[in-house]
Order: sequence, then structure tokens, then C-alpha cells
Amino acid sequence: MSQRITITAALPYTNGPIHIGHLAGVYVPSDIYARYNRILGKDVAFICGSDEHGVPITIKAKKEGVSPQDIVDKYHAIIKKSFEDFGITFDNYSRTTAKIHHETASNFFKTLYDKGEFIEEITEQLYDAEAKQFLADRFVVGTCPKCGNEESYGDQCENCGTSHNATDLINPKSAITGATPSLKKTKHWFLPLDKHEDFLKEWILVGHKKDWKPNVYGQVKSWIDDGLRPRAVTRDLDWGIPVPVEGGEGKVLYVWFDAPIGYISSTKEWAEREGKDWEPYWKDKDTKLVHFIGKDNIVFHCIIFPAMLKAEGSFILPDNVPANEFLNLEGNKLSTSKNWAVWLHEYLVEFKDKQDVLRYALTANAPESKDNDFTWKDFQARNNNELVAIFGNFINRVVVLTNKYYEGIVPIPNDYTNDDNEVFKALKAYPDVIASSIERYRFREASQELMNLARLGNKYLADQEPWKQIKEDPERVKTIMYLALQIAGALAVLCEPFLPFTSIKLKAMLNHDALDSNLTWIGVGEGRELIQANHKIAKAELLFTKIEDAEIQAQLDKLQASKAANEAEAKLVDPQKEEITWSDFSKLDIRVGTILEAEKMPKTKKLLVLKVDTGIDVRTIVSGIAETFTAEEVVGKKVTVLVNLAPRALRGVESQGMILMTENEKGDLVFVNPDDTKQVSNGLKIS
Ligand code: MF3
Ligand code: ZN
Repeated sequence: MSQRITITAALPYTNGPIHIGHLAGVYVPSDIYARYNRILGKDVAFICGSDEHGVPITIKAKKEGVSPQDIVDKYHAIIKKSFEDFGITFDNYSRTTAKIHHETASNFFKTLYDKGEFIEEITEQLYDAEAKQFLADRFVVGTCPKCGNEESYGDQCENCGTSHNATDLINPKSAITGATPSLKKTKHWFLPLDKHEDFLKEWILVGHKKDWKPNVYGQVKSWIDDGLRPRAVTRDLDWGIPVPVEGGEGKVLYVWFDAPIGYISSTKEWAEREGKDWEPYWKDKDTKLVHFIGKDNIVFHCIIFPAMLKAEGSFILPDNVPANEFLNLEGNKLSTSKNWAVWLHEYLVEFKDKQDVLRYALTANAPESKDNDFTWKDFQARNNNELVAIFGNFINRVVVLTNKYYEGIVPIPNDYTNDDNEVFKALKAYPDVIASSIERYRFREASQELMNLARLGNKYLADQEPWKQIKEDPERVKTIMYLALQIAGALAVLCEPFLPFTSIKLKAMLNHDALDSNLTWIGVGEGRELIQANHKIAKAELLFTKIEDAEIQAQLDKLQASKAANEAEAKLVDPQKEEITWSDFSKLDIRVGTILEAEKMPKTKKLLVLKVDTGIDVRTIVSGIAETFTAEEVVGKKVTVLVNLAPRALRGVESQGMILMTENEKGDLVFVNPDDTKQVSNGLKIS
């Protein structure tokens, strides 16, 4: 029986489409790994699905005025299709709203409950009295107790990655109403992580010190060193899987409790469809379980989920969790809400049939050990200078020349020279070199080795110059072309995990179907004859085409447009401030006035000293408008003035009020002034 491998890819939240950050972090590497293992004949289950519960989805639904189910249906369809079109070969793509998942997660909870693995406790949780709702997870924002990030969510800080309880936040604010929450008692079930601390230490800190990536190991170690605490695995929300035990009415499972169980339910769904047994994929000690995730998911996959699996008792634990760091885009953090992203479904339309280019660019520049930046220029360079100029160029020469010299019939080689032997030896080493990088989850390195093989082919042709030798020594050219064709064959096989669409095209060009079965990963490594003499190959077709500057510029313009839109929106829709009463408002005394005199405050950039007729008196007001207006141009302006603001001294000059201003999209100040065409006298009240 071949080795069984269960490969999971983080279930994406269905609150938006997939972007390049998700692809680089999770889906491209996991697909390379799954394809590679299938090529070697392993028994692979490559599992994913949509993560459809959780607060982000509820928030999105609220914003759009639709139901959470509408949101998840919409994005599940977009995500699923874009993965398929991009060539991600999940064996199953499920969703956490599926019946099989609700049952599986619910039973999992019940099992732990029956085994006494939870602590049941009434605690005080953050509550928004206005929204009449408990504030779990992303419904609350506040300062991270660990790193001081002011926009940390209730369950996790995106800045430092720490996961905490909502009540740990400093200055919590409701994300629904902006109100400061109060505390209210409620019952929840907690998973006592502290109880599993010894096991986690032994299993990870001792057992996986050598084989886990340093970034993953380091994060886990620091959490364990900080001391683990019980974590609530239920929430007072109405979107999710109902808590299936007594007292659970009106409560649901925490999304991070149910989602990883989604891997199991998705495996079940697949097994049922394929007529297989799901259990060995999750319970057989000899199965290798690998979780592909982004770094913000480390705590859940290395601590919480394993603790759940361990507590349940019958499951295996992951062999590795090769989490990636983050990918940025043109120097800024990727953001779904700010539309700062390259969306997969849009890429697939705008760069038709160029799936492999994006796969390659994201792999060659993968954020494996540190955050990395995706730039459109780099994308263009990877395509033009590597895929087109090296890989594509080599294949094109081989196929064109074989057709030109021999009408596509692979020539019979003569004796090998020393150079030939060297090349042949190098060629045979590639499968192991690439495999060893993939086995260690170094996909970036693996992709560069693949490109080195194409370089080797290019160099061989450039050195041997068959196009010159064809007149002087046609017998020698037969050997050269034969050997070049073997390299082309090896590329067709070895590129499959990285460039699957290219592999299919290249195999077709080499007329793969008519070959005997040596053209395999193993065959290359064993130095077998991959493309036999007298075999007829097909005509040349371009594998890659150049990407022009204009296409890259169009993408940069698109990003620029979303930046501008964000800035405009950020200005227009400042959230409403806290409600005030009529009596609060009536305290403000706002009058119509006229600026009579103005002069620049010496040694400052921003300040003008104004004499303003307020109708009540003529007074001095210091105003920070000098970057937009000169003293001359404001004299005579009708303005609105807050007259009863407590006076304060600015640079030694007492300012006795405030001129009301606003700022336009360009950041220029604009007077909020009465309509000049209507005669309004100074001193009139604004109410
Ligand atoms: N939806 C989560 C995210 O996008 C990942 C969930 S992974 C799973 O960050 F393990 F919970 F499935
Ligand atoms: Zn933090």
C-alpha cells in the first residue's frame, strides 16, 4: 500500500474572493505538494472548503443588507470556481454550512463534552447594550495587550498574531455601534489548554524542533512559554453551529472550533462520493497529515486544533504545519476591505490562459521565511526573463529544430562526448534535487531548481550550436538534438507540480501519448530514455508569451484607482461620533462673523492671526489655515465662528474662538461659511 497523505489547505472565509496573498501563502504551495505526491503514486487526500461561519461574514452581511447565507453562497461560488480555473486540484472542496459538517462538528463537541474535556463557566463578557448583543471576536476592536496595536480584534491581533480573549483588550469598542461595551454575565464552554500544556511541549517543542519551520516553531514556543489558558469555544451569536448540549440555546460554536473540523467533514464528503473509508485518512498512525496555512493561523493549527484532536482521542496529529509569512502588494498590506489586492477571479479574465505565470511568480517569490512583496514589475520580469526567455525559449528551439531538421522524428544519437555525459548526469540528478526541496516545503527553492534545468538546456544548445554544426557535422547534431529532447522531456515531467498547464501543453508537443512509459519523475531520475529515437513529435507552439509594459501599467493604474477611492471614502464616511443630546448641542454658540484683518504668525507655517467681527465684538482668533490661504485672501471672508470655546494661548497669542473649516478630497481646507449672496449679518446664531 502506498503511503497515505492527508493534505489540508486553510478553509478560506467566504466574506470576499481569493487574492494573491491567499494563493502565495496557502493554495499554490499546497497544490504543488499534492501534485508532487500524486506523481509519486502516494495515496493523497487534498482537502479544502469554505469557512462560512464567524463574525466577518455577519459583518459583511450587515453592511450589504443581506443575510449571512446570501454572502456565503455568493463567495463560495466565486471562490470554488476560481480555484478550479486556476488548477488547484483539491480532491474535495466543501463548505462549513453543509449538513455533514454541522453533524460532524456538533458530534465532535458532544464527544468532548461527554468526556468532561470542557470547563463550563459563567463569566462576564463584553456586551453592547445598544445593539443588544454580546461582542465576540471581530465585533469588538481595542488595543492589543501584547503589542499595543490599537485595532486588534477580540480574539486575535493581526499585528502580532497573538490570540486573546475579548476581555483582555484595552479600551474595547463595539465594531457595531462604536460604543464602549459593558460587561454582562453569560455561560460558555472552555477548552482548558493549560491542561494540555505538557503534551504540547513534548509533542512540538521536543518532537518537532528539527523538522518544523523556524518561524512556526518559534511562534508556538513563545505561546507555550507565555503559559496557556482556557479558551472559550462557544459564542453568544446567532450565525454558526448551535451548541448541542443543555444550556447551549442561543449560542453557537466558536468559528475556530468548527472550521478545522471542516477538514474532517470535507474528507468524509469526499470518501462518501468516492466509495472510500475516510477514517484511515485521519486515524491511521501511518498517515501523514500536513496543514498548509498562513501565519495568522498558526496558534489554531499548532495548539488549539491539536489539543481538540488529542482530547477526542482517536485522531492523528499533524506531521507538519508549513505556515507561510505574509505577501504584501506593491509595498502595502493586502486588504480585502480596502480592495488592495490582485483578485484571482479577475486575474483569470485579464490574463487568460496565464495561470502558470502567476503560479510561478508567486512560488519564485513565496513568503516562506519572511514577508515578501508582490510587484507587477517582478511578475513581468519572472514571465519575460525566465518563463519566456529561458524555459519557453529552450523548448521552442528544440521543437522547431527537430521539426526543421528531421520532420519531427527524434534522431538516433551517436556517441556521447564528455560534455554530453556531464549534461546527462546533471539531468538525472534533478528529480531528487527538486523532490528534496519539496519534501522540506521549500517550494521557492524547488521552482528555481526547475528553472536551472531549463537553463542547463539553453546553455547546452548555446554551447553546441546545432544551427552551425548542421552543415559541417550533421551526425553530431543528431546527438545534440536527441539529448536536448531528453531535457525537454524531463522538463515536461518535473514542471508539472509548478506549471501544470504548461506540462500538459509540453507533453502534447512531445506527443507524449505515443511514447512508452519512461517519461515519469522516476524515469528521469533513473536516466531512462525518456523520448525514444524515431518517435515523432508535434509542431512547436509557444508555451509563454511576453507581457508588455502596457498590461503591467493597466494593473498599476487599477491599484492606483482603488487607492484613490479608498482615500475619498475614508474622507467621506468618517464614522458618526457618539450621540449627543439637544442640551449638549445647545451649549455651542456658533455665529456668523467676518474676518477683518489677518497676518501670518511669525516663525510658523500654519498659523494666521485673525481679527474677526463676531457681531458681539471684534476678537482675535488664531487659526491653522496658513498652508491653504494667504493672509490677504481671507480678509473680508464671511465665516462661521464657535465663539464660546474657552480661550487658549497659541505661541503667546490668546485665541478667543474657532473658525469652522472642513477639508476637501485633496486635503485643502475649505471655509464652512454662510452663503455670501444672501445678506447675513455678523452675530447671527447658527442653530
Ligand atoms: N478562515 C480562516 C482564515 O481565512 C482559516 C480557517 S482554517 C481552518 O484565516 F482550519 F479553520 F479551517
Ligand atoms: Zn498585538
